[in-house]
Parts: sequence; structure tokens; C-alpha cells
Amino acid sequence: MADLNEHTVTDAAVAQMANTPDPRLREIMESLTRHLHAFAREVKLTPTEWLAGIDFLTRVGQACTPYRQEFILLSDTLGLSRLVNVMDDRENRVGEATETSLLGPFYRENSPRFEYGQSIATRAKGPEMIMFGKVVDEAGNGVPNAIVEVWQTDAEGAYDLQANDPEVMDMRGQYRTDAEGRYAIRTLIPLGYSIPMDGPVGELVRKQQRHGFRPAHIHMLIGAEGYRELVTALYLGNDPNIDSDTVFGVSESLVVNLATGLNESPDPSVPSVRYDFQIAKRAAHDKSGRVGADPSKIAAE
Ligand SMILES: [Fe+2]
Repeated sequence: MADLNEHTVTDAAVAQMANTPDPRLREIMESLTRHLHAFAREVKLTPTEWLAGIDFLTRVGQACTPYRQEFILLSDTLGLSRLVNVMDDRENRVGEATETSLLGPFYRENSPRFEYGQSIATRAKGPEMIMFGKVVDEAGNGVPNAIVEVWQTDAEGAYDLQANDPEVMDMRGQYRTDAEGRYAIRTLIPLGYSIPMDGPVGELVRKQQRHGFRPAHIHMLIGAEGYRELVTALYLGNDPNIDSDTVFGVSESLVVNLATGLNESPDPSVPSVRYDFQIAKRAAHDKSGRVGADPSKIAAE
């Protein structure tokens, strides 16, 4: 046998994977292996640095709990989550369907149900706002009985998962659209926040001298029978970090500004934003949801 050198070791590794029966797994692992090897050659990775990388990834895994997903955070801060979403939108976004945004690490299943116009702030206090509008289909017709799931920080920039008792849910909930596809959510004005900086990802972001902040936003997950699940978020346009989101989630079409006196608002005296979400029919080739999402949960309802 020939001794492996820095180039032939790549071909040898790929050759051992050649019989992988699943063609997509074979394609992904071959490409990942080739790119990882090319990366190591390009930066001339030393054994010490390799070990530091292993240690870092180990700590990322150890930082994960049922309430914290450090790996998604790592993907987000590297721009990988956004890249995957952008590619998926390019392939699968239909017509004028609302753009997607990151699911992020703070989504929870089984959030409480609320009625039209009720507030998701069951414990937190702060200045209020209202979000209202319609969930519409590709023709602009309202989609009745769609699930509108929403989650966000409180007025201090913290999610319930970061509170003292993460078992308690607050600042999140699910609504159903009415017969005309309308929804209305009363909530608190969210505050931009720092990504969790007390773990290995935060440590890396600090070493890179990045500010670590996300502009204020409200996460949304919208689903209806027969439609593609939409994972998105609305961003407040007056946030100082609107152009430098640490996890690259902002799109122009998702930036909103609050205004009082909107006469269609359930309460025009409260700063409100009207936003219509357009969802697309589920296509036969739709297999999975967006990054981290589980569309089967909504389809099964
Ligand atoms: Fe968020």
C-alpha cells in the first residue's frame, strides 16, 4: 500500500464512503469531507488548533440543554442558518410569499392558546404594541383557521427561557385566524438583545469583537392545513442594530415601524403594526420545514 499524503488522504476517506446506500448522505458526506480537508490544508491546521476546535465543539454540545440550543446559535452566528434559508427561499419560495427568517434557539412547542386580540404578556410588564393583519394565500384571500405562533423577548430583552424559572411560559402563544384570515396579537414592544454570551459561542463572538446583538424582533411561525409552514420574524425598524444583526436574520421586507392611530387596529391608541403574511400551498416535494422547525406538528393538528 502507498503511504497517504496530504492530498491522497482525502481521496482515501471519500473512497471508504463510496458504498453509502443513501445517495444524498453519500453526496453530503463526500462534499463535507473534501471541504473540511481543503480547509485544514488552506489554514495549515496544527494539532493544537485541531484539539482546540474539538474542545470548542465539545463545549458547544455540553452547553445544550432542553432550554438552550448552542449549536443552532453557532450556526446562526456563522451565517449558515441564513444561508440555508436563503437557498431554500430561492428554490421553493412561491410568488410573493412572505420571506422567511431564522427560527432561532428560543422556540418552544405547546405554547398557550390565545383569542383574537388577547395579550401574550401574562407576566411581563412594559409598553404595549399590537400586531394585526391577515394570513393570506397566493391570491390574497384570507386563510381561515391558520395557526399563528408568536414568541419574543419581554421589554427588557429576555425570553422566558432565560428567566429564573424556564418552566414558566410567557411572551409566547398561538392564535387562530378568523373566518376572514385575520389575526390580532397584543404584546409588549420587544427589545433588541444580546445572544447568550455566557457559553462557547459568546466567547467566540467576543474574541471577534462583534457586538453580539440582535435588533428587536418578534418571531412568527405560521401554518395551515395544506400550506407550507412559514418561519419568519418581524424586525423593528428603529433599532440601532437593524443593519448589523449578529445572526443575519433581517430582510428589508420584514422590517416594520409602529404607528398609533391605525384605524383598523383593535386599539388604535396603542402603537400598532399591520402586517399580512402570505403563505404558499404545500408542494408535493416539500419534505421538511425550515431550520430547526417541525412541520409535522402543525400538519397533525
Ligand atoms: Fe429572537
